[in-house]
Amino acid sequence: MSVDIKFEPNGNQGVIAEGTYLWDAAKRLGVRLPAECEGRGECDTCAVIVKQGATLLSSLTQAERERLSPERLAAGERLACQAKIEHGGELVLIPVPATERKETAEEALKDFRKEFSEMPLQRKLATLVELEAVAAFETLGTIANLPFTLGEKVMDVMAGFGRTLGKRDRESRRPVEHRSQVVTEDKPGGEAKG
Ligand code: FES
Repeated sequence: MSVDIKFEPNGNQGVIAEGTYLWDAAKRLGVRLPAECEGRGECDTCAVIVKQGATLLSSLTQAERERLSPERLAAGERLACQAKIEHGGELVLIPVPATERKETAEEALKDFRKEFSEMPLQRKLATLVELEAVAAFETLGTIANLPFTLGEKVMDVMAGFGRTLGKRDRESRRPVEHRSQVVTEDKPGGEAKG
């Protein structure tokens, strides 16, 4: 069975198969929801308001109870990476605006760029010196704590680890409540099916 989904206010809509997470449904319908924690339920950047069809979705996960306040839950918010479509019908979703959720790193950088461009020259210079000092301090800390050869080894291991994360890692990001189920849907950073 499938579900008709409409995103407001942009009007993107389409038919999506049951078993799909809202984050993937959004992606398929051309709606870009941020996923700062890559679908682990550790941020709230993928939050959407379910305006219609809340009963078509899986139950709230522990992560949603922890990330969304009672007020936000009462307003119909769900984390798109945690909420799965379980029944056919009609869903109307509204992405939560950036001003009402945690800012993503990308958004913070954009804000900083804007703020920086509007700073007077004196303040710009002071900020640059400050940033340079932080970077130098971090570099010094890294060198002091990590002998060069060991550092290289760690980087090698990390690169190898990153390459082999694959499916197991993607599955580990699923809400704990859904982990025993057969994988039929994709997750942020995963592969689409259906
Ligand atoms: S992407 Fe972080 S909670 Fe959904």
